Amino acid sequence: MNTRILLFISFIMAASAARAADGEFRPGEVWSDTDGTPIQAHSAGILVSGGKYFWFGEDKTLGDRNRRGISCYSSTDLYNWKNEGLALPKEAMPEKFRDWGIVERPKVIFNPHSHRFVMWMHLDDSGYHAASAGIATSDKPTGPFTFAKQLRPIGDDFGYKDDDPNKQKQLGGTYRDMNLFVDDDGKAYAFYSSEGNATMYVVCLDDNFTGPETPAVPGKNWARLFVGKFREAPAPFKFGKRYYLITSGCTGWSPNAANYAVADNILGPWETKTNPCVGPDAEKTFHAQSTFVLPVAGKPGSFIFMADRWNKDKLEDSRYVWLPLIIKPDRSFTLEWRDKWDLSVFQ
Ligand code: GAL
Repeated sequence: MNTRILLFISFIMAASAARAADGEFRPGEVWSDTDGTPIQAHSAGILVSGGKYFWFGEDKTLGDRNRRGISCYSSTDLYNWKNEGLALPKEAMPEKFRDWGIVERPKVIFNPHSHRFVMWMHLDDSGYHAASAGIATSDKPTGPFTFAKQLRPIGDDFGYKDDDPNKQKQLGGTYRDMNLFVDDDGKAYAFYSSEGNATMYVVCLDDNFTGPETPAVPGKNWARLFVGKFREAPAPFKFGKRYYLITSGCTGWSPNAANYAVADNILGPWETKTNPCVGPDAEKTFHAQSTFVLPVAGKPGSFIFMADRWNKDKLEDSRYVWLPLIIKPDRSFTLEWRDKWDLSVFQ
């Protein structure tokens, strides 16, 4: 066979191996964009705007740390995703958060007062001690986002040590794994692991969603949840009047057992339930870690659970695990593994 034909055949084989599954989800498999390139958007957050879905995440093409920035993909059907490029390239961030610095778990929401799209992210230095929120805004969902500020939302001192490497006494509680949630009344909240990851915080944002509502008063506009329980990877959602929050344990890139909690008031009390995962590998969240829960349009009580299956030796090859989440009549839910599935499960 001549070299040209061989090259052509290997090109076709590579293209079909990397092709997106157009009408179904295949959790844990390589998921390619509409150009046939594997999607690079880890720790996903989804924004719904103008009849489209926008998927933001960490671009780990070059491996660990913030070597490229925050990527954005768009879709109208949730199966096929077009690469919209970097919404927040690393060059747009303060220098210490580029390259060996950390920018993780970006989430984007729309602010109706400023008419801007607002991105929150976890910013850190290489030793994970800066542990703060980063905030960037844009007038388009695809960006480019402009970096606005770095902060720790809550300054209360819970008896931090003078030699705390995270400097919480001076700078406030650490801000690491995070998510955003916009409530039915238009108020937005940041959920994040604080106090050196020991305690989860929920903090109401200001009118422009670019900082905490001030003054911050516990029980009024922010709260400490699961005190000392070391939960992270928060994925909040709401059904009816009830709030749900899926979290993971704190074991870095290694998977652990998820659990979920429920509340009638977003500031608590939150009641911790069990691990929602059932079946083989449930104790490891099917080798994945929660990142987001997306309500399915027009199907009350139906959601998509999104998680990252980290490949700690080759982070760029970490995979996406999306599974259906359906609230049962008793208001509980379970997550079951599926090799493949599509949106018809929500009929
Ligand atoms: C996990 C966290 C990830 C990332 C990782 C680094 O616990 O959920 O977002 O920070 O640690 O080891």
